Amino acid sequence: MSKPKSNNAKTISVALTLCLVCSVLVSAVAVGLKPAQLENARLDRNKNILVAADMYDAESDTQDDVAERFKDFDVEIIDLNKGNYVDDATLADAGIPDRNAYDASQATKNQALSDDLGNDDPAGIGRKPKYAKVYVKKDDAGKPELVVLPIQGYGLWGTIYGFLTLESDMNTIKGISFYEHKETPGLGARIEEPEWRAKWTGIQSYDENGEVATGVTKAGNPKDNWVDGISGATLTSRGVSNMIQFWLGEQGYKPYLDMLRKEGGQTVDTAETQANQSKQTAQPKTELAAKLPVANGKEA
Ligand SMILES: Cc1cc2nc3c(=O)[nH]c(=O)nc-3n(C[C@H](O)[C@H](O)[C@H](O)COP(=O)(O)O)c2cc1C
Repeated sequence: MSKPKSNNAKTISVALTLCLVCSVLVSAVAVGLKPAQLENARLDRNKNILVAADMYDAESDTQDDVAERFKDFDVEIIDLNKGNYVDDATLADAGIPDRNAYDASQATKNQALSDDLGNDDPAGIGRKPKYAKVYVKKDDAGKPELVVLPIQGYGLWGTIYGFLTLESDMNTIKGISFYEHKETPGLGARIEEPEWRAKWTGIQSYDENGEVATGVTKAGNPKDNWVDGISGATLTSRGVSNMIQFWLGEQGYKPYLDMLRKEGGQTVDTAETQANQSKQTAQPKTELAAKLPVANGKEA
């Protein structure tokens, strides 16, 4: 009578061992693949930055082309509320030791690095990061000729992530791309299609009073500098409209774009830096540094 008991014990111990071995294997594979996944995400992000800047040819461009062309961009971090570039010391004080690793979406999960938007949240993002990464392509004179701005907002089924590129006047839209969303293929997911994205090129973002004057209309209701919505996908179209208006507005990149226009696109100005320093000697070093336009390095 003791035989079946011992068989049961054996079966259970074999099953447990098998479970343990499998879970160790799965964990090891997951950990081993993590760097490759992060690298793929980085390459995809860089490709989508080029798509938004109209610098990517889906037919012919290789990963090497993407890597090479992405070198044209300076990767900067800005203070969204103040509109200025932020240097490493200020970032370190804020708890961001490595600017290359900074991820504004992750920052929205950190109370110290983001602000609750409460009811003033047309894009449906909940919290706004204090700092944002922007990608700047400069001309030979060092003036920004393209500025690629990360954007995000709620569509119908989830958050849509993308990039919006402005030309040197910080008003004309050069292009737009979307790289992550949960919208339905054939309906909301059509925001990714080149034909729809092309409608944004050449649009003027602001009116003569500096107010945001673009968005997405309901399909079939044309309006100057507004993009026709996708028929059958009114809710996704509205989500895109809200996110564009939010990120171009005061809560988004407008203070930064105003700064670029005022500075004539000069992001490095030694004379002004020195003038600011002498004017603001009483201020703590980090506060002063936050006010200065500084250009930072490249990111692979
Ligand atoms: C299965 C399913 C998936 C849908 N996916 C989307 C979507 O991704 N985006 C969207 O705006 N509408 C989507 N809709 C349609 C919306 O529910 C809604 O009817 C539509 O946005 C209204 O657009 P219209 O006024 O242009 O017809 C979906 C509907 C169904 C049944």
